[in-house]
Amino acid sequence: MNHSERLSVMTANNNMENYEETYRSFDWKEVEKEFSWYKTGKVNAAYEAIDRHAESDRRDKIALYYSDPERQEQYTFAEMKEKSDRFGNVLRRLGVKKGDRFFVFLPRTPELYFSVLGAIKIGAIVGPLFEAFMEAAVHDRMENSEAVAVITTPALLERIPVKELPALKHIILVGAKSDLNEGHYDFDLEMERASSKLDIEWVDREDGMLLHYTSGSTGKPKGVLHVHNAMLHHYQTGKWVLDLQEDDIYWCTADPGWVTGTSYGIFAPWLNGATIVIRGGRFSPDDWYQTLERYGVTVWYSAPTAFRMLMGAGEELANQYDLSKLRHVLSVGEPLNPEVVRWGLKVYGLRIHDTWWMTETGGILISNYPSMEIKPGSMGRPFPGIEAAIVDDEGNELPPYRMGNLAIRTPWPSMMRSIWKNKPTYEEYFRIHEWYVSGDTAYRDEDGYFWFQGRLDDVINTSGERVGPFEVESKLVEHPAIAEAGVIGKPDPVRGEIVKAFVSLREGYKPSEELKEEIRRFVKEGLAAHAAPREIEFKEKLPKTRSGKIMRRVLKAWELDLPTGDLSTMEG
Ligand code: WTA
Repeated sequence: MNHSERLSVMTANNNMENYEETYRSFDWKEVEKEFSWYKTGKVNAAYEAIDRHAESDRRDKIALYYSDPERQEQYTFAEMKEKSDRFGNVLRRLGVKKGDRFFVFLPRTPELYFSVLGAIKIGAIVGPLFEAFMEAAVHDRMENSEAVAVITTPALLERIPVKELPALKHIILVGAKSDLNEGHYDFDLEMERASSKLDIEWVDREDGMLLHYTSGSTGKPKGVLHVHNAMLHHYQTGKWVLDLQEDDIYWCTADPGWVTGTSYGIFAPWLNGATIVIRGGRFSPDDWYQTLERYGVTVWYSAPTAFRMLMGAGEELANQYDLSKLRHVLSVGEPLNPEVVRWGLKVYGLRIHDTWWMTETGGILISNYPSMEIKPGSMGRPFPGIEAAIVDDEGNELPPYRMGNLAIRTPWPSMMRSIWKNKPTYEEYFRIHEWYVSGDTAYRDEDGYFWFQGRLDDVINTSGERVGPFEVESKLVEHPAIAEAGVIGKPDPVRGEIVKAFVSLREGYKPSEELKEEIRRFVKEGLAAHAAPREIEFKEKLPKTRSGKIMRRVLKAWELDLPTGDLSTMEG
């Protein structure tokens, strides 16, 4: 890495003028005063994100732009309030109560946003599911959390194993065409019937609001619980990192099935009263540039894989679109290569600002700010109010350039408050007194910039999406041909990593290209497309410990042609 390369400040209007000074003087207490609950003592994050604006001069301001080949829609803050109020009443009439888990399994359409906000308004805990999830992924999340209700479409409903989810009572269908079964409700009809005024549920700051499932290296996905208090963090990072201003048109490309799509696709922009653009469907360079042009997007939050794909699509394509409104570009989810940052500067005339955080942290903790010099390849510096450090396993802080655990001093407003029904896993993160241990390794330079090095566990980061090897391995061994499977992340120039599976076959099965294709399809259709192994390698035998655990470390070493290290625990 080149530690001396710097990109100087180029953005004129910025909410935070001087990083060092702000970092020194900042106090989270100041942020509380921004919200009405400071005076009333009554809290609800959805109220602060929508209703507060609907009751102000912003009532007729556009909150949301949406388009797909069939629909072209826009909603003001007043309309967003009405829609989410109605939906809150729909859920309440079904008997959904404060603290109940309600799942949202929808494509990225306005209904997704109405239902997330409406559910939060009645105090329910929302579990958003990425629309590409297949049955096994949906099952694990809804079962673990004992979801009582879900909103989905007839097509996606086929992936919800209703019979295996005893707690699930109500299914709301968007676009229901045929007669409804018992326990099924038609979204349009219920919305029409419901009152447009909701008696909002005022909750405690520490009450649950969102449950985001995320992968670890072992076991099933973990349900990370976030509370209403996270709004403080979302609001302030929206101001200082996204640099949102009154006239901004903001586009976060992440789906709300992932934490970026809720913290920065819903709350940060709307708490700041900004206009957002939502765009579903698959990535395509033309479509993305068209979206930026059509809406005159000014602030754009995306991910390295997308930037690398746009880079691959070439400068000429970018030049065919009018991107002149764009003023601030940000990235999250995986390491942002310096080449991409330089390319962004050349082609968009803008610096791409890297940000670092995790599902568990609820919001941005380290980042590059518009008013700060950028060192390409570095994630930036801690957000004001956040103390980040590189520590050893005992919690001793390490000097500059020494690699160690990237850790954050506890607490901060958007920190996860629990892992659903899994206290031991939650406590693992806080094993070093007063620190949250991220599981990432990094070092800090002498100017206080953090440089990402890698992950300590086996979690795979493919196109910015976290994939747990255990989930994929469990699916693979359900295939009749597979005896054993080990899954690793293999470095990839565009996607960061790809999922690679090593499998051994059962008696009577022979390796073939067709079998690889069939196995890939099996995972894609059973778990999720992004979790399906892009590469499969057949092995007679997989490296295992004496207790029978597949040694992913050895698989990775085979893959990268590295020494395999200590094999003393390997079976003979
Ligand atoms: C990785 C996404 C390098 C990291 C918000 C982290 C990054 C995991 C960066 C969290 C970055 C996130 N540079 N790596 N700027 N941002 N990561 O939970 O390994 O989906 O632990 O949250 O992504 O992924 P998650």
